[in-house]
Amino acid sequence: MDDIVKRKKDHLDITASGRAAYHKTAGFERYDFIHNALPEINPDEITCEVKFLNRWFGFPLFLSSMTGGHHESTSVNAVIAAFCERYNLPFGVGSQRVMLKDSSFTSGFSVVRDEAPSAFIASNIGGAQLVGGLEPEKISLLIDTIRADAVIVHLNPLQELRQFKGDRNFSGIREGIRSLVGDVEIPVIVKETGAGLSQVVIEQLIDCGVTAVDVAGSGGTSWSKVENIRNDRLENHFSDEWGIPTVDCLLAAGELAGEKCEIIASGGIRSSSDIAKSLCMGAVMAAIAQPVLQVVREGGYDGLESFYKQWEDDFRLILCLLGCEEPTDLDMVHLRRVSVR
Ligand SMILES: Cc1cc2nc3c(=O)[nH]c(=O)nc-3n(C[C@H](O)[C@H](O)[C@H](O)COP(=O)(O)O)c2cc1C
Repeated sequence: MDDIVKRKKDHLDITASGRAAYHKTAGFERYDFIHNALPEINPDEITCEVKFLNRWFGFPLFLSSMTGGHHESTSVNAVIAAFCERYNLPFGVGSQRVMLKDSSFTSGFSVVRDEAPSAFIASNIGGAQLVGGLEPEKISLLIDTIRADAVIVHLNPLQELRQFKGDRNFSGIREGIRSLVGDVEIPVIVKETGAGLSQVVIEQLIDCGVTAVDVAGSGGTSWSKVENIRNDRLENHFSDEWGIPTVDCLLAAGELAGEKCEIIASGGIRSSSDIAKSLCMGAVMAAIAQPVLQVVREGGYDGLESFYKQWEDDFRLILCLLGCEEPTDLDMVHLRRVSVR
């Protein structure tokens, strides 16, 4: 196995095992819902549909970008794509950098369009690849291979710094994002990968013209831990726990975003309660990666479908008990801060 394929396989194995989870939490336990004993709602009239990037989706759940470049990720991607087609959910492929370098990896990405001809699918490329600008033919390749509806740029300085021979030049990424926004006709979404976007960074991204940001805060998968495990480093290195908890990212983002930029909540979203709380805090969608990988590995398409149906049922229950008919009714007034020991 060459380096890249081995790395991608390690990423799948280590993250799916749960060994690379943060000890610290995403912060959702700091808030509780305010129960509504008089909901005045007919549960049959509750809808879970949400509008994101001017398009309607069946449920406020984005299936987050996950690695391409290994044959197992191709089959995982195919399952997720077929599922997103069936339930009208948005989906992001993993970093397409490998297929820009070696066209034999292209089919591992194009398979998602074969499985999901009408679903919303986003391309994915690292910020480090945008330093100095990405050539127009590479941009076209990223988008055309999957007929992408949006381009996601991932920022992952923590992982790159912990990865053996990671990309270490972060100077020029911001300008690269600004140029990409000008070069493409589809929305550009910028995400972290688990260490979180601060308020200052979100402001800078809004200034670059991005349409949406995915805060991808800490509390879920720790990419520093993934690389520390891969490189047999000492356990409990401080960088394992580096990052801004998702709830802190969301509260900071909520103060800025509004009409200018839509917010996706991710990083340690592990239940429908987390999705509902994220929407109360101003997110339009929540996104998950590791739990999807785990259920698809263990149960394939059927496993993913039953996982989703449980989350959808729970989400409807939450909406009803808060007196909300639709996701956009969720607001901070439905939460109270609780003291956590
Ligand atoms: C196996 C795996 C591969 C990933 N590969 C990518 C990637 O290629 N591009 C990207 O933007 N994020 C990637 N991520 C990061 C996720 O999209 C997400 O931001 C992060 O895992 C936090 O979400 P979680 O706590 O739900 O796992 C990957 C995550 C996993 C679990």
